Amino acid sequence: MADKPLIIGHRGASAIAPENTIAAFRLALAAGADGVEFDVRLTRDGIPVVIHDDNLKRTGSLPQTVASLSLAELKQVDVGSWFNRTQKRSTSDFSGEKIPTLEEVFELFESTDAVLYLEMKSDAIQRDQLAAVCCESLRERSFKVRVIVECFDLTGLEAVKRIDPEIKTAALFDFPQLPSWLVHSGRRMIQQALAAGADEIALHQRLASQQVVETAKAAGLKVVVWTVDDKVWVKRAQSCGIDALITNDPGLMILERSRMRTV
Ligand code: G3P
Ligand code: CA
Repeated sequence: MADKPLIIGHRGASAIAPENTIAAFRLALAAGADGVEFDVRLTRDGIPVVIHDDNLKRTGSLPQTVASLSLAELKQVDVGSWFNRTQKRSTSDFSGEKIPTLEEVFELFESTDAVLYLEMKSDAIQRDQLAAVCCESLRERSFKVRVIVECFDLTGLEAVKRIDPEIKTAALFDFPQLPSWLVHSGRRMIQQALAAGADEIALHQRLASQQVVETAKAAGLKVVVWTVDDKVWVKRAQSCGIDALITNDPGLMILERSRMRTV
């Protein structure tokens, strides 16, 4: 049984490698992360691929959108060089990293015990198709129990549960999504998560007050907080019962969690 909180690499170990690449996922595992979070979109030909933005400007230096290109075309794109150019902490040459398919990411993690937070990124038009494709990819996978499907659009989570109620889901909430008077107790968010059939609630760090965490736990939801890179969150998570922290720097957080065990 892993220590709490679980430490989950946001887009892999994205502080030290280009996000959502096999290199970033390998480095998260090497750092001892309990799992990774990653973003999934559909290509023009309906293949699920792992990339955050809906276009290639930031990570691929190209103007096209992901949805306008086929998998074969997307596989030509270098999503590593931008990191070499822009990140001070880049110690290796990541040029030539490719956009992984969901299948390739699953293959990488199949023989591990890592927890996978799969975030569905889609507009309303692609929502049901993406949910169906993700559920199909998970069908009869031995590690399905280690996968949690996340989405800001709770209708997407409802679609997943309709297709396969065994798949665990997490309702994502961003900070500016609700007026502050509703955020205060968290009751509205928790009601929405439960109504969508979610198993977990994944909160922006500014939403994760002790009161909200306690109310969510009392309602039977696991609580995940994103995206935190300050190690004070390890102690905070332990004292208020947060189950998992999503971080760009899993190495740092794992180190802090080990230190807390010896204090
Ligand atoms: O897992 C939650 C977090 O990844 C959501 O924000 O923009 O990094 O996908 P974003
Ligand atoms: Ca994400």
